[in-house]
Amino acid sequence: MKLAESVSLDPYRLREDFPIFSQKMHGKPLVYLDNTASAQKPRTVIEAMDTMYREVYANVHRGIYELSERATQMYEDARRKVAHFIHARSRREIVFVRNTTEAINLVAYTWGLANLRPGDEVLITEMEHHSNIVPWQLICQRTGATLRWVPITEDGHLNMEALDSLLGEHTRIFAFTAMSNVLGTINPVAELVRRAHAVGALALVDGAQSVPHLPTDVQAWDADFVAFSSHKMLGPTGIGVLYAKRHLLEGMPPFMGGGEMIREVTMTHATWNEVPYKFEAGTPAFVEAVGLGAAVDYLSGLGMDRVHELEQALVDYAYERLHTVEGLRIIGPGPKERGGVLSFTLDDVHPHDVAAILDQEGIAVRAGHHCAQPIHDRYDLVATTRASFYIYNTREDVDRLTAALHRVAHLFRG
Ligand code: ALA
Repeated sequence: MKLAESVSLDPYRLREDFPIFSQKMHGKPLVYLDNTASAQKPRTVIEAMDTMYREVYANVHRGIYELSERATQMYEDARRKVAHFIHARSRREIVFVRNTTEAINLVAYTWGLANLRPGDEVLITEMEHHSNIVPWQLICQRTGATLRWVPITEDGHLNMEALDSLLGEHTRIFAFTAMSNVLGTINPVAELVRRAHAVGALALVDGAQSVPHLPTDVQAWDADFVAFSSHKMLGPTGIGVLYAKRHLLEGMPPFMGGGEMIREVTMTHATWNEVPYKFEAGTPAFVEAVGLGAAVDYLSGLGMDRVHELEQALVDYAYERLHTVEGLRIIGPGPKERGGVLSFTLDDVHPHDVAAILDQEGIAVRAGHHCAQPIHDRYDLVATTRASFYIYNTREDVDRLTAALHRVAHLFRG
């Protein structure tokens, strides 16, 4: 067991678990480098969902018959697996939602509307995804609270001195990403939570990019809320997670009303189910939850330390190789301080042109503002091209990307 854990992961072996890599793109083997947007699915995830539809399909928490009880058991087992994966105290701290965006909106519209007043401050950072900006803008408009921003340094880190002056007695919540989806910057989450708590504020962590790639321990972080999505961590779309400390969930009003979230309904009023069900109105995405459970099993089997190690080695290599392309500029910190995300510009070639040419080579990257316009404004850019990695990416993928970028540079210069 110990020996297996110490052996590094082999991306060539892991690729075989992902059916999508058996096809060609424009006649060439697919190089998938858009993992920050969404990750591919291993066979075990696809099969877990297929088996549930074929053999164990019935609505959950509603039937007193064998099939429904088995489906409910599988749904709740998935919740237990997720709780274990992020070191939550209990499965009751895991609310299934659609995605990270919905998880953050849930907190903004329940905790935020119930607690924020004029004079209060919500603190976010310049490196947030729109999902951790727009809900707070909407809630600040509704409540009269003020939205404040932690600036970032030229090399893509949070400005910790500015943070100290921004956190104060009026700060009610500090909402920040654990890892930037543009810069790749890995933030010191436990330290940021500690500073928020020191002024009596709550801390919400956007874990959309970190939970799929790094070991996560919500208790070590002492985070109050953590949001993440299944589809970026090898699981299906349509399901995500809000982790919250149980006492906070219990004190928050419901988000959406409907079936299952109630205890009792009369013609004039309703009372609420216990947590987490109070926040799961309507038939939940239980087949997707089982798919997420299978993704968690897969990642746990690999070991998140080894996942991080593999990606770290690849980003080191890619950082060096991409710098051989004349005119290419990577934004954000050095390779040791970032996850597997590299956003770059190539002279003044439009990122959409770069991505379109790479596509012809069978290479999938994302181009644009990556749902994070303020960070692009910070660097005076409209758009970047982004290559992002996961466990099935190889040095060969990086070599193909580099060679294709050399051709793009040559083409436009010529
Ligand atoms: N949040 C996703 C990305 O960064 C969609 O691409």
